[in-house]
Amino acid sequence: MAGRRILLTGGAGYIGSHTYLALSEAGHAVTILDSFENARRSVVDRLGRITGRPVDVIDADVRDAAALDAAFAQGRFEAVVHFAALKAVSDSVKRPLDYFDVNVGGLTTLLKVMEAHDCRRLVFSSSATVYGVPDETPTPETAEFRAMNPYGQTKIIGEQLLGWLSASDPRWAIGILRYFNPAGAHASTMIGEDPRDIPNNLMPFISKVATGELPKISVFGDDYDTPDGTGVRDYIHVEDLARGHVLSLGKLFESGEGHLVNLGTGRGYSVLEVISAYKRASNRDLAFEIAPRRPGDVPIYVASAEKAAEVLGFRTEKTLDQMCASSWAWISGEHSGGTD
Ligand code: UD1
Repeated sequence: MAGRRILLTGGAGYIGSHTYLALSEAGHAVTILDSFENARRSVVDRLGRITGRPVDVIDADVRDAAALDAAFAQGRFEAVVHFAALKAVSDSVKRPLDYFDVNVGGLTTLLKVMEAHDCRRLVFSSSATVYGVPDETPTPETAEFRAMNPYGQTKIIGEQLLGWLSASDPRWAIGILRYFNPAGAHASTMIGEDPRDIPNNLMPFISKVATGELPKISVFGDDYDTPDGTGVRDYIHVEDLARGHVLSLGKLFESGEGHLVNLGTGRGYSVLEVISAYKRASNRDLAFEIAPRRPGDVPIYVASAEKAAEVLGFRTEKTLDQMCASSWAWISGEHSGGTD
């Protein structure tokens, strides 16, 4: 496919930065728009070092219509890959207004500006969280919406908004990607997941226990109805996930039509299995204790990965061991832990 001019909102974040590299490698001209509220500025410099090319960045919030309008006037983008959003579940329970403002308001603002500039191709970051506690695992895309918290609700509303928009005007072509649990880091060891605060998610938490920054892992519940009693998730290597966006975008241009797919591997691992894999990768003894269940947690999330294979030709390539090894290479390497 010929290179396209792409706007990548939230492109300095964890998944966004890996997707920047995948899109650039595929020959697209990518502009990042990021507020840097939850991303480090040093990421931009690193992306430039990895690609050997200057990175086009706009420092703006996705709710800022004037900034978006100026970006479109200048960049004449042919499509948008939209990551910019808030994503911490417990935080969303404490400040729902901010989640609706950024995740729904930001999306609406972006769509209006896109329409004004005649740009109607969008890849949207959704999440397995829209399934709530699903009746079926592996979970197919046909499973119903179940909001468990404000964050999940904003993703459901986003998807519904996009559905109505596509129905209103067939020129829209929108790819909705429901991510399962992204993990791992880029092979360069220059970028990866590096939350500013104590991580909420399992893999970054384990990585900080491995480096000695945190003392031990709390395993949230060992009495679930799963093989070893701990929560099971479908971890997907962030580089595989990034590649999914390249395929999604390619499909939008090729078919002129939208799609809705899960991005996962189709296979689940328990918390204890992830800890064991990380032990092997890091060669560190990782202390853990069994703690109470985390409120709102789901016992099992595993994707049905068939539709993404059919529609996009997407198949994951990397294993859990590779996720852990790349995470460890990144977090124990010289580039992690920036202070900016
Ligand atoms: C969480 C969110 C999800 C969001 C995703 C990405 C919840 C309920 N879900 O997914 O909506 O899209 O993050 O931001 O918060 N675990 C531990 N100890 C820890 C951390 C996690 O045992 O310190 C366990 C959890 O109980 C779970 C598994 O590890 O079984 C994965 O947890 P996590 O990485 O937080 O992801 P999700 O809960 O799947």
